[in-house]
Amino acid sequence: MFISFEGTEGVGKSTLIEKVRVYFEQLGHEVVLTREPGGTPLAEKIRDLLLTVNSNENMCPDTELLLIYAARSQHLSQVIFPALAEGKIVLSDRFCDASFAYQVMGRGLDADKLDLLNRNFVPCLPDMTFWLDAPIELGMARARARGELDRFEQEKFDFFSRVREGYKLLHEKDTDRVIRLDATQSAENVFNQALSSLKSI
Ligand code: TMP
Repeated sequence: MFISFEGTEGVGKSTLIEKVRVYFEQLGHEVVLTREPGGTPLAEKIRDLLLTVNSNENMCPDTELLLIYAARSQHLSQVIFPALAEGKIVLSDRFCDASFAYQVMGRGLDADKLDLLNRNFVPCLPDMTFWLDAPIELGMARARARGELDRFEQEKFDFFSRVREGYKLLHEKDTDRVIRLDATQSAENVFNQALSSLKSI
């Protein structure tokens, strides 16, 4: 079972993932917690490149997309596939839906570029994806309160509005897999919203 967690910045993914981890462990499952971009030492180095603000050189959107997929390939082969083969439950803080939301909708890259990468390098989608949805203002305020903003968090309101729209499109395209959670609610309430889907597993 492979479950991903998605949403714009500051919507409470980490809190929900932790609650879902405890839920599965109490049922006796082995759980692997991971994240994208990242999840392996090499992929975490790529994450640093992606998140660090470099005032000397802007990263091109194509470069960003390709770095994300380099990290994803490494993550799939070193962490996700081995864990799934051992019957573990993989909980990933983001996966390829984020590339549609951020790189295609946010950055405006051609969807064909993403399709090409997904077709060739990502043979599986998550079994279930929780999309934590909240107004952009709320998440941005939470992200700002956490401290220094990374390269993505420094983007403007319009960028995140397009990202949110991207997640909405993904949800509408596949409501069985991409489950919308109202992330304006308390952490407990958000977990309870997820619980009905988790119980169906
Ligand atoms: P995080 O803030 O959830 O840890 O994620 C790091 C950033 O990476 C987040 O701002 C979204 C971005 N990202 C993409 O732009 N495309 C992707 O495919 C992934 C996985 C993350």
